[in-house]
Amino acid sequence: MQVAVMASGTGSNFEAICQACESKELNFEIKALIVDKKCGAMEIAKKYQIDVVLIDFHSYPNKKAYNHALKQKLLNLDCDLICLAGYMRILTKDIVDLYEGQIINIHPSLLPKYPGLNAIEQAFDAKEIKTGVTTHYVDSNVDTGAIIKQEEFSIKDLSLPEIYVKLKPIEHRLYIDTLKLITGEK
Ligand code: GRF
Repeated sequence: MQVAVMASGTGSNFEAICQACESKELNFEIKALIVDKKCGAMEIAKKYQIDVVLIDFHSYPNKKAYNHALKQKLLNLDCDLICLAGYMRILTKDIVDLYEGQIINIHPSLLPKYPGLNAIEQAFDAKEIKTGVTTHYVDSNVDTGAIIKQEEFSIKDLSLPEIYVKLKPIEHRLYIDTLKLITGEK
């Protein structure tokens, strides 16, 4: 399976996917990491010798031009699956429609609770005793696509940094389990 990963941040979920490919848990060829700005995920791509495509949002005159460039790149890559791993931009409807059922995202909340930005902080501020991680198909709204997997965990009496420590390994495992499930590698 030919895959593109899209990220904007540190890329720990991207690295989990790379590791699962290396250990043959996933039978993926990661054709490229697509980023919208310089970010930590690029270093991970270097480590795993994966091509990086930087489509720098700020180097385009407007959103339309940026999205056109992104769509062209995705078409050129000709992938079967697109994994969003902390990609901080909303994909336009034409891209989502083009890859219906082929774009997966991971989100740090028990969707439909706390979609969008700062989901962990929102759960923390609301004094929730549990939150979770959700993987889902991407549609053209924010974090509303069909849920694939969800895992909850207790955040009772935890500080925000402690929640992050607990969250990360759950995200990594859930993302790989999701990819195995949807590609029939489980
Ligand atoms: C993760 O929390 C993921 O759920 C969200 O963006 C974050 C990316 O983290 N969509 P990382 O860069 O993979 O560590």
